[in-house]
Amino acid sequence: MVRTSNQVDREKQLAAEAAADLVEDGMTVGLGTGSTVAFLLPALARRHRNIRCVATSPHTADLAQQLGIDVAPFTELAILDLAIDGTDQITPDGWLVKGGGAAHTREKLVAITANRFIVIADSTKPVAVLKGPIPIELLAFGLGSTLRRLGDVTLRAVPSSPDGGIIADYHGPLVNPRETAARLSGTPGLIEHGLFPPEMVTTAIIGRGDQVEVIDYRGGK
Ligand code: A5P
Repeated sequence: MVRTSNQVDREKQLAAEAAADLVEDGMTVGLGTGSTVAFLLPALARRHRNIRCVATSPHTADLAQQLGIDVAPFTELAILDLAIDGTDQITPDGWLVKGGGAAHTREKLVAITANRFIVIADSTKPVAVLKGPIPIELLAFGLGSTLRRLGDVTLRAVPSSPDGGIIADYHGPLVNPRETAARLSGTPGLIEHGLFPPEMVTTAIIGRGDQVEVIDYRGGK
């Protein structure tokens, strides 16, 4: 079914509100990046004054702070109670492709730090099979070498990441996401890629029309 942008935004908002309901006062919370997370931040600000957050991008940090949410630097916190983030794609078994907004390196680090990682999405995000390209972040040092070894990569015409990484997209084979993820992770010079495996995901909350679908992948760490 084709959805208007208003309907999609409504689904994002419903998913974001449902995720905000999972947050409890006193929690440490990782905040993702993107248009779905933009609905999460006001929902959190309305419900909770006593949470401590880390943000996966300067944009999210700015938005959250404008709403009065406490955003701490992500240097000393070694564990988070919860992380909530959007996705570009999600398969029925919980594989994600993230990084459309180029924030996947920080997003993966925050997600892996959280006891529970909650994915929020509208109904355009579920896919039967993942499609490329896969967002990647590369070290500027040795970039030519890394690009040659990776093969089919396009550089994005966007600024470097906040950590100085070069943002690009990998167009190589994606028949088996675990094999592709292992190949990318095993490439020196590649900082991080946007394939998130199902074992990282606790729950997906998908907005569908006026409802949300909640899919539990595992019970938490
Ligand atoms: C940022 O780099 C991405 O991983 C986003 O989290 C993802 O693209 C979802 O974004 P939207 O909520 O805007 O679709």
